[in-house]
Amino acid sequence: PVYKGNFLKYPGWYVTGYQEAVAILKDNRFQTRIPFPETTKKYKALMEIQQHMMLFKNPPDHARLRMLVSRHFTPAIIETFRPNIEKIAHNLLDEIKNNNKIDVISDFAFPFASLVIAKIIGIPDDDKNMFREWALSLIQSIDLTRSRRSIIDGNKTTVKMLAFFKDLILIRRQSPKNDLISELIQQEKDKKLTEEELLATSVLLVIAGHETTVNLISNSLYCILSNRKEHQKLIENPTLIKSAIEECLRYESPTQMIARIASEDVELNKVHIKRGEQVYVLIGAANRDPKQFSNPDVFDITRNPNPHLAFGSGIHFCLGSALARLEAQIAIQVLLQNEINIHPETIKWRKLVGFRAMEEMRGTWG
Ligand code: HEM
Repeated sequence: PVYKGNFLKYPGWYVTGYQEAVAILKDNRFQTRIPFPETTKKYKALMEIQQHMMLFKNPPDHARLRMLVSRHFTPAIIETFRPNIEKIAHNLLDEIKNNNKIDVISDFAFPFASLVIAKIIGIPDDDKNMFREWALSLIQSIDLTRSRRSIIDGNKTTVKMLAFFKDLILIRRQSPKNDLISELIQQEKDKKLTEEELLATSVLLVIAGHETTVNLISNSLYCILSNRKEHQKLIENPTLIKSAIEECLRYESPTQMIARIASEDVELNKVHIKRGEQVYVLIGAANRDPKQFSNPDVFDITRNPNPHLAFGSGIHFCLGSALARLEAQIAIQVLLQNEINIHPETIKWRKLVGFRAMEEMRGTWG
């Protein structure tokens, strides 16, 4: 469950056991850190923006940043977006329903997740088309499979995103709206966060709120449609959609790995982790740990309880989990009601380690 490895030349402790993964994620001696702390001009923008993201902050700074936005993402607040999210899904379906063949990722999941997060943050709909390019580039640059080229590319994307958000912030400063970005601008005025933190939070919410949700939607559709018995159960009892999405989160976790660094020597499972050593928590593996989940390789939409770690654990537990769940439930329901079929032979998985993500999955109707 905890072993020392040097996967892809990343030396560190690789954690595959469920209990061990929870222990590490809940222990603040294991800290988060930006993925590329090297000082080089070529990654400067990427490095600097990450330094101000809550995802890479430790106590006490972390709580301050998270608190500024957390009330916007509670299950109760997210539920108020349901009619809007359903409308977005139906409108998109109306647009693509006449096409005989669709690519589930580019024709549905990407535009859907972009429109939703754009609506919540307060980004004009017309601008959401850039999200795909941004998300793909930034995810590639932080995955363990990254190359120097992809990091430089991620840096260029960051420069573009910063320019975009600086313009938007300027517009909203002059005429605030009832949206998250306007509220963050007000908080910056009140000195609750700095301008860098305002920009970093905006970038983080777009990226974190987008790519993983796209993956959850496509992975869920794949899991459900390729398990005839489970699909049938869902058709017969649509109220199972919530537990079905939980099982998809466990079975094909969109985020597969979380990285930490030991801030002091720690004894775990008779293993001695030294200060400064890297720890890679493989949540995809923990979610299939037979000590925690019976028949872990069986996809069972009625699994209960299902305490998967797809959204992490501890202080960095995914801020957007309620939103991601609601989006996936709505998207899958709408796609299934429209009798989508998928063609598994067309699925192209992206070659990433930290994320379970498809590049393409073709579908037809009825
Ligand atoms: C953190 C997964 C959707 C915003 C995390 C973490 C995981 C995760 C595993 C913890 C990272 C760590 O501990 O290092 C997912 C998955 C999603 C999803 C699988 C979709 C299926 C979203 C959405 C949003 C969001 C929709 C926002 C709108 C965040 C933020 C953090 C985070 C801001 C950092 C929280 C912190 O540092 O306190 N997510 N996420 N995520 N997620 Fe998500």
